[in-house]
Amino acid sequence: MVKAVLGVIGGSGVYDLPGLEDVREEAVASPWGEPSDALRIGRIGDTTVVFLARHGRGHRLSPSGIDYRANIDAMKRVGVTDIVALSACGSFRQELYPGLFVLVDQFVDRTVGRTSSFFGNGCVAHVSMAHPVGPALQARILEAAEAEEIAVRKGGTYVCMEGPQFSSYAESLTYKAQGYDVIGMTNMPEAKLAREAEITYATIAMVTDFDCWHPEHGAVDVAAVVAVARANAAKAARLVSRLARDLPAERVPCPAGSDRALDGAIMTAPTH
Ligand code: ADE
Repeated sequence: MVKAVLGVIGGSGVYDLPGLEDVREEAVASPWGEPSDALRIGRIGDTTVVFLARHGRGHRLSPSGIDYRANIDAMKRVGVTDIVALSACGSFRQELYPGLFVLVDQFVDRTVGRTSSFFGNGCVAHVSMAHPVGPALQARILEAAEAEEIAVRKGGTYVCMEGPQFSSYAESLTYKAQGYDVIGMTNMPEAKLAREAEITYATIAMVTDFDCWHPEHGAVDVAAVVAVARANAAKAARLVSRLARDLPAERVPCPAGSDRALDGAIMTAPTH
């Protein structure tokens, strides 16, 4: 059996994971670069949980400065099978208000210049990104949120911008008109790399603001994001605790194929 190990990547406002027990820190070395921080490995109930602060403790790394490959590789090396990405985001919809958790199921990658694959010349692979979120993991997150009475919506599209500046008014209106639901700066290439690593991925997009399109709200600023993100972090910790406690001990096959994403994806002929 493959043991289920839950990885939790904490974004803005989430620099640790209350509820994690028997914690040890491991600075995992990766040939791909420097992970954002030491992994904190512990357990919640019977589940091994591995926490990583995406921006590093003290929020040292900007979205463009994070080594996403090193982060995903470090998680893979310690046996993570499923990642929950906790991510602050702006909202393009009135009904997706600050404080709400959105379980997005699609991503649009508008980042530029980030290294977004473990593969390249020498070993060419094309994994499917049609369904980047693990539906079974997402269903468990939804159940955990409901059990904890945390306001949550299932479904949505997360557009990932490069940043670090927030969007202009024209960009905000454009993303809204394109039908995107939320915006953030980090879930790409994270989700792509998780798929290449055959790790199941699901995002909890934690709404902090209405970006700058909303006629009744001013332009987004860091103070507002941080204030809401702090409150969201406490709820996220409750949700993750419940999720971890209820997770089956054995990794279950992912309906979207994330646990076997490389089957049939490698183009390069094997050497003999
Ligand atoms: N993270 C939180 N709010 C955001 C916004 N409005 N745009 C991009 N990233 C964000």
